[in-house]
Amino acid sequence: MQKSVALPGEEQHAAPGNEWWRTAVIYQIYPRSFADASGDGIGDLPGITSRMDSLQDLGIDAIWLSPFMTSPQKDAGYDVANYRDVDPIFGTLTDFDEMLKAAHDRGIRVIVDLVPNHSSDQHEWFQAALAAEPGSPERARYIFRDGKGENGDEAPNNWDSVFGGPAWTRTTNADGTPGQWYLHLFDSSQPDFDWSNPEVQEEFRGVLRFWLDRGADGFRVDVAHGLVKEDGLPDLVEGPAEASMGSHADLAPYWGQEGVHEIYRDWHKVLAEYEGDRVLCAEAWLPTTELTAQWVRPDEMHQAFNFGYLTTPWDTDALKQVIHESLDEFGKVGAPSTWVLSNHDVIRHVTRLSLTEKTPQDHGIGHKSKARPLSPEVSAARGRAATTLMLSLPGSSYIYQGEELGLPEDINVPDEARQDPAYFRTNGERYGRDGCRVPLPWEPNKPAYGFSPTGESWLPQPSDWGQYARSVEDGVEGSSLELYKQLLRERKARSLGTGSLVWEEAPADAVAFRRGDLHVIANLGDDAVALPEGAKVVLSSQPLDGASVPTDTTVWFEF
Ligand code: BGC
Repeated sequence: MQKSVALPGEEQHAAPGNEWWRTAVIYQIYPRSFADASGDGIGDLPGITSRMDSLQDLGIDAIWLSPFMTSPQKDAGYDVANYRDVDPIFGTLTDFDEMLKAAHDRGIRVIVDLVPNHSSDQHEWFQAALAAEPGSPERARYIFRDGKGENGDEAPNNWDSVFGGPAWTRTTNADGTPGQWYLHLFDSSQPDFDWSNPEVQEEFRGVLRFWLDRGADGFRVDVAHGLVKEDGLPDLVEGPAEASMGSHADLAPYWGQEGVHEIYRDWHKVLAEYEGDRVLCAEAWLPTTELTAQWVRPDEMHQAFNFGYLTTPWDTDALKQVIHESLDEFGKVGAPSTWVLSNHDVIRHVTRLSLTEKTPQDHGIGHKSKARPLSPEVSAARGRAATTLMLSLPGSSYIYQGEELGLPEDINVPDEARQDPAYFRTNGERYGRDGCRVPLPWEPNKPAYGFSPTGESWLPQPSDWGQYARSVEDGVEGSSLELYKQLLRERKARSLGTGSLVWEEAPADAVAFRRGDLHVIANLGDDAVALPEGAKVVLSSQPLDGASVPTDTTVWFEF
């Protein structure tokens, strides 16, 4: 594909439309780490309800909740055993209704995480499949196959799990003899559904309706590029897949297959039956923005995470290119671009943007890693500058809980505390994602920094996190929290979620553009950059030295 270049003077436009999700700032809640009301050390729905005022105060438009449905929690809830109920560790359906009402009362919409690629092995369908014969309708809801080799003791093909190790596990028959194999692109406790089966399709229409009827404003769709597998399940010709969900995405027989789009066209119609512009957002790791845009054609999903943006390093040309290309490619299909820097699967951007070595997105960092952040100061400065740039862009932005506090990745999670299945499936070779999932600090001097009334915390919190506690930052000029609030306020007041972006001339190490009357400049270089004469600063990610923009700083200004 041709390189997308931002030329000074060029104007790009956000695709038109008035639906709320085109411009929304959506805050990701990772329920087990947000706020724990019950005191068991795992966050829950009543905890979220109790902290809803803080989200309103922050100024976000919607929340997306990572899964809270019934689950044995082998992959922190991304292994669902019952799609129509709440796991007791998170509360009850009534707690969900109360949480949703508390959000809606404050004008905050609620997006639910849906996991359609696989269920938990504890799902009643999978248990029935294990108990049934090969070739039975029960087995046909999942992907069971006979093994290869003389005794069927070789996996049906060479696919690897995203979490490491083979993507197939052999079953044991009732009489103790080895049986068929089943496919799991993730952990062996997460068997993949067979989406060519109409029963699976109908079941998920029902699940969508269940949450839409309860008032959910939409869904974030997990592994949205993986549901359909190539006919015949051929070997991956390039050899076993690597860890990342984006790797081999242009050729793997399980990522981005054409048939997957039919499913979302179908779901689009289900959502359209409901009032209020309900939304589908694709978690689809694909190699190009052009491909990602296929998930948000007018009759498919409404948004797709812009992982191209998330994975862009702190580099001027790369940033210009990805912004330009995103507006272009999503614009072509009439969709808003989304922007995202952090989530529960990646190293928090405060840390990631200053790492001394590139670290694959789901490998994580731990005590043996060579990669280290440059310094806490550089990390904080880059994190703030990156967010100040992101929230000036047209489209919809995602914020991951804790980034408003400036939380870094916890790179010292003790090995014995780790929970990510990727850590165990690779025998500790990959640290996985626990470092971005550590429970939030709310108040510095309370047990578990106010996360839990008992002081319990499912992952240990670092001893120096009191400084990031919400109450410490609240109302304090210059804090990360106040910067986020200011960004969201100004973004709304100036309608920055929509409209055009005009690229501006800038020094070699700076990104500069105009949004109407508002000018934005991000300085990524080593030298300070002078603001133009007469510039009036609206906000800045760091204190300014007179009229010059220091390194790793983004400024919004006008005349
Ligand atoms: C989710 C992960 C999860 C995986 C399997 C991902 O894309 O974001 O947290 O482990 O899907 O469901």
